[in-house]
Amino acid sequence: MSTRSQPDLWVRKGRGGQKCFVSILRARPDNCLPSGPLSPLGIRCHVRHVLRLHRLILTDFRNYATLTWRPRAPVSVLIGPNGSGKSNLLEALSLLVPGRGLRGARGADLPRRGGPGTWAVAGKFSTLQGEVDIGTGTAPDGGSDRRVFRLDGTTPRNQAEIASRAAAIWLTPRMDRLFQEGASGRRRFLDRLVWALDATHAREVAAHDGAMTQRNRLLAEGRAEPAWLSGLEDAMARHGVAATAARMALVRRLNDVPIRGALYSAFPPTRIGLVCAIANRLAISPALEAEDWLRATLAANRARDAASGAAALGAHRADMTLTDLETRTEAGLASTGQHKRLLIGLILSHARLIAEVRGFAPLLLLDEPAVHLDEDRRADLFRALRVSPAQVIMTGTDAETFLPLADHAEAWRANAGELRREPGFSTGSPLSSDGGTC
Ligand SMILES: Nc1ncnc2c1ncn2[C@@H]1O[C@H](COP(=O)(O)OP(=O)(O)O)[C@@H](O)[C@H]1O
Ligand SMILES: [Mg+2]
Repeated sequence: MSTRSQPDLWVRKGRGGQKCFVSILRARPDNCLPSGPLSPLGIRCHVRHVLRLHRLILTDFRNYATLTWRPRAPVSVLIGPNGSGKSNLLEALSLLVPGRGLRGARGADLPRRGGPGTWAVAGKFSTLQGEVDIGTGTAPDGGSDRRVFRLDGTTPRNQAEIASRAAAIWLTPRMDRLFQEGASGRRRFLDRLVWALDATHAREVAAHDGAMTQRNRLLAEGRAEPAWLSGLEDAMARHGVAATAARMALVRRLNDVPIRGALYSAFPPTRIGLVCAIANRLAISPALEAEDWLRATLAANRARDAASGAAALGAHRADMTLTDLETRTEAGLASTGQHKRLLIGLILSHARLIAEVRGFAPLLLLDEPAVHLDEDRRADLFRALRVSPAQVIMTGTDAETFLPLADHAEAWRANAGELRREPGFSTGSPLSSDGGTC
């Protein structure tokens, strides 16, 4: 739907005039322009376009020999007993954006056992840039641990080209203990949130961590060549400060996502805290000074880091906290159900933030989102998903759980590497790419 057919709908420029946030208004106000795509439903909407998956093709991926799947509704539920391939399908989707996917799996685990040893996943999306085919799979030269990307049938120059077109965020059962376990999982989670906003972030983190690993090795081998160490510490300082600044920017923005509308009434407002010495420094001094400080501190810490075998300071030490602002509960102390609710709320806020900043909402992959939620909380989740600006693909073991969404969601039963439409749910209509409601 666009204003060409709906002349009474207009777009108001966002505050500051830089972002063209969409508001659906019934009369043309001052400072409004005829809009691009608009939501057919919303009163207020901040999404110009929704990333839509129209078709997914799996070839020899995990338990799927071949599968062609065409989602047609804004929400798709994959139903099936344990081991039927639901999470595998979400994992395949998560591999259509850079990174190691929602399981962080090794490349060697991905080809179908008993298959030819190669695998491929291909998605047809509508994006801000139009229809796009994104493919990934084993490299033609066969190195099974290295996957390659294809973008519209050609090799992209780099992964950032993929990240600039598509984004996906996910919630998995493994994350049910995110705030009870070690900091590295939380850091990866945070970095994925940053990455969906800033495609260069992964490179900064990788460059920092690569320099840190080399420095650790040099120190462990006792080859303390000052010039070499200084070069590595310089790289740690530059990339560590850049990565930390990006994390801080995301945290600030997520903490500022306005709490309003149906999406947010269902979930408690949360606050993320970044626990990081570099962030503390960046809060009080400019980036160049923070780099100098980090460089000097790393140089001063060489003997100590050599003794402990690890760098005591760096972007790899960052951690995050998450607090329910309604009850002041820290995620680490929350019950499993409260914890899940906090994470779902955060992920939905993140989807909204990405939609506002990038102009499209990312794919939301929710693996077993209803588990641990009581009936009321489940109703909250479904209420939020009804108005989510993002296309949602989620899983569950039984269809009954999702029946309250049956008019809005389609359901597919996974069985032995096949998907069959589950009766009693929406049959969808060709997915629109117009912005959703918030
Ligand atoms: N590389 C592989 N080749 C064939 N089957 C696999 C492969 N990796 C995992 N599987 C199978 O996939 C099934 C798990 O699928 P999964 O999507 O995790 O199930 P669920 O429906 O419970 O989410 C298991 O039966 C597992 O043996
Ligand atoms: Mg599963």
